[in-house]
Amino acid sequence: MKIENIKVCAFDAYGTCFDINSAAKGLANKIGKDWLAFSSTWRTVQLEYTWLRSLMKRYVDFWKVTEDSLEYAMESHGIDKNFKNELLNLYKKLNPYPELKDCLKSLKSKKLKICILSNGSPDLLKQLISNAGVQELFDDLISVEDVKIFKPDPQVYELVTKKYICKPEEVCFMSSNTWDIVGGGLFGYQTVWVDRFNKKFDKLDYKPNMQIKNLSELTKHF
Ligand code: LAC
Repeated sequence: MKIENIKVCAFDAYGTCFDINSAAKGLANKIGKDWLAFSSTWRTVQLEYTWLRSLMKRYVDFWKVTEDSLEYAMESHGIDKNFKNELLNLYKKLNPYPELKDCLKSLKSKKLKICILSNGSPDLLKQLISNAGVQELFDDLISVEDVKIFKPDPQVYELVTKKYICKPEEVCFMSSNTWDIVGGGLFGYQTVWVDRFNKKFDKLDYKPNMQIKNLSELTKHF
């Protein structure tokens, strides 16, 4: 399958460009052997809080949601709260996936606009990309902070078409989060599901245009 006639490549950040488990992994010696289960709880609750807060119309920024969900996960897994700040500091500099930089360079050579579209607050996104040394490769970091509602509200996906004054189908959106692919796809984007975690795709009346295992496969299809 091919992705055709696009002007913009928009990337989800957490779990797609950056390894969300790398914070808990970095402290695995203190957390213990259940670090991955703990990390999964943290992520699951973080996302649930974004959806719940959007429904309740009680937006707070992604950093607050990340702190609140971390506390919940620490309580659930009986982890010493003294590690909280260390984990949050690691979350500010999550590891980029190893193939990210080469993928971005290759897209850049095709003269496409490249942006991040994320729940993350602007300062968090800035820290992530500068820590990963890829700040020159992104044209823009687009955050839900501008509309104060989280993904998958259509207003979030509209931020990209407003920014670049383009049609939804001229945007190719990459995410490892199936529900995020559904949100972007139903808005009208062409979508590439980065199936890093061997998941089943959601049953939400939408299927992605393309499915890859990691970002190194992306440019083959353009
Ligand atoms: C983001 C989350 C959903 O970066 O991964 O928006």
